[in-house]
Amino acid sequence: MRKKYSPINPKCPHLLHGGDYNPEQWIDTPKIWDEDMRLMKLAHCNAMSVGIFSWVMYEPEEGKFHFDWMDRVMDMLAENDIYAILATPSGAKPAWMSHKYPEIRRVLRDGRREHHHARHNHCFTSPVYREKVRIINTELAERYGKHPALLLWHVSNEYGGECHCDLCYAAFRGWLKKRYGSLDTLNRAWWSTFWSHRYTDWDQIEPKDDSVHGLMLDWRRFVTDQTVDFFLHEVRPLKEITPDIPVTVNMMGTFPGLNYWKFAPHLDVISWDSYPRWHGTDEDWVLAAYTGFVHDLNRSLKGGKPFMLIESTPSATNWMEIGRPKRPGMHLLSSLQAVAHGSDTVQYFQWRKSRGSAEKFHGAVVDHAGHEHTRVFRDVAELGEIMEKLDPVVGTSVEPEVAIIFDWENRWALNQARGPRNRDKNHDQRCVLHYRPFWMRGIPVDIIDMDCNFSKYKLLMAPMLYMVRPGPEEHIERFVKNGGIFVATYLTGIVNETDLCFLGGFPGPLRKVLGIWAEETDVFYDHQEQSILLADGNALGLSGEYAVRHYADIIHPEGAEVLATYGHDFYAGQPALTVNHFGQGEAYYIASRNDDRFLSEFYGALQKKLNLKRALEADLPEGVSAQLRTDGQREFVFLLNFKPDTQAVHLDGEVLTDLLTGESIQVKLQLPGYGSRVLERGR
Ligand code: GLA
Ligand code: ZN
Repeated sequence: MRKKYSPINPKCPHLLHGGDYNPEQWIDTPKIWDEDMRLMKLAHCNAMSVGIFSWVMYEPEEGKFHFDWMDRVMDMLAENDIYAILATPSGAKPAWMSHKYPEIRRVLRDGRREHHHARHNHCFTSPVYREKVRIINTELAERYGKHPALLLWHVSNEYGGECHCDLCYAAFRGWLKKRYGSLDTLNRAWWSTFWSHRYTDWDQIEPKDDSVHGLMLDWRRFVTDQTVDFFLHEVRPLKEITPDIPVTVNMMGTFPGLNYWKFAPHLDVISWDSYPRWHGTDEDWVLAAYTGFVHDLNRSLKGGKPFMLIESTPSATNWMEIGRPKRPGMHLLSSLQAVAHGSDTVQYFQWRKSRGSAEKFHGAVVDHAGHEHTRVFRDVAELGEIMEKLDPVVGTSVEPEVAIIFDWENRWALNQARGPRNRDKNHDQRCVLHYRPFWMRGIPVDIIDMDCNFSKYKLLMAPMLYMVRPGPEEHIERFVKNGGIFVATYLTGIVNETDLCFLGGFPGPLRKVLGIWAEETDVFYDHQEQSILLADGNALGLSGEYAVRHYADIIHPEGAEVLATYGHDFYAGQPALTVNHFGQGEAYYIASRNDDRFLSEFYGALQKKLNLKRALEADLPEGVSAQLRTDGQREFVFLLNFKPDTQAVHLDGEVLTDLLTGESIQVKLQLPGYGSRVLERGR
């Protein structure tokens, strides 16, 4: 099957390389602009993000616009064959606006209105702010819509946060009226009779009560919907005036504040800002697995369409407690990792270090020294040169046979729950631990939410699927009936979409497909452990004992077969791992939080059983990742070594060609520490 996505904008059918460029900070030194152009070409950059924080330069006084400086920037970019990713400036508002129209400033949960400061802190409901945004966005679209440099709209910057002003509360109450119709229905959905919280007037509802879980869950939903609504408002003039220019918003990976699945349908291309803490407390390869997970999430948000790494640092960050510069090799490696997982770009924050203010020490392609004779610049230029040779990769993707459910509403509900154990719920980290065995074996994985269509997968994992909305329960049943393998864990099927517990036995609506009833959950202090013992001759071929921490559900089979039992305590000998044969498929229940070795061996057994497709038929050493990108005909294998030492990969009789050097590789490949290769299969 041939499937190739078109480039982000057909104007530029190459991987994009560049980053956030703030020439307005150097408006008094035009020489620096000329120098920037020279250096960009030297660094093999072809797309720069401009205008992200430029509002006050465009509109220093209300209604008085100055675009001549940006005209010059756009022209210079075009003259140098560099494209512009033009931002709308709503991420930071001018001081005159904050002072003249206080309503645009956000109100904190305690009712205090913020003074003018920092950025990313406007009210997303304020009609005044929306109107100001409409005006400036219209101006930009009209002025630059036909400019040869314009490639893409970068809408605002890192949307996030919430506002507690009267306008937002009125909008929230309107949102609730639409959802529930009557206060009676709302009170029932929120179980608000508890602690006498029943609402008798819509105006009593304020999202400041963490004890009413249904309320706070709906507030989070509203914050997402209202942010999407603000975005749609921003984008309207852009779409009207420049229908052919794609739009994106730079998102923040697994940022908990916004449900990115609600944005995805409205974006032409997904993009995200990635800042892993390389060379820190976690080993780099552990962090690489986490980062791979987030890249995969971004690819999955639009069903496999290539995404953009729209921000990353060329060296260090300045906002982490300790932000280390990348070690030699890491820049190329971490950038190619994004491409390996489906990114068609490598973009940076930032092109040139600013001279003053908060980000003057944040890594940049051009340092305060101001020239190209730095290690970081050379690393960037080397990557740029390599990216120019990767045209065949543009638009390719991967069709995984495996998916993990990583669902925002589920995280919100799980994290706000009190009990059964309040420490180390670690939803995100656990999802990554279920992902890692696949990452380590070079098996592609999609990261989806529970409303996605998962009929195309062979294996579906849902770690800690605490909330089950109506819809997914049926889809999961059908998926298994039709031959899929479903894996659930402790803390599954506990609450519905308004955070009310399912009655009649957990895992609620998934009880039938899993064939078990979970009666109690035992939890442990950090120094306490449980264990599970694999049953002799179990179908997975696993044996021995595995350690359990934090959680252990005490369950009763209702048709499911027992594969392992608990080792200690009053429930020793009772089931700890089960499989239910359901229709053509199987549903596994991992009742306890088992160690990493268990996850590795358990999923290894499922991999064999399902004969899952791997990027490379080879046993990969720990820390080496193999990723696949294909258009259905040509297949590109990215081999990435996240350990600082040389590692060898033994190829299983395959011949691969190095896409960059043309060298043919067979039998054995040596990857130096932090080394990476891009290979093509069978050429
Ligand atoms: C975010 C922002 C950028 C910059 C970087 C620094 O991603 O979008 O403007 O502040 O962080 O890492
Ligand atoms: Zn507000």
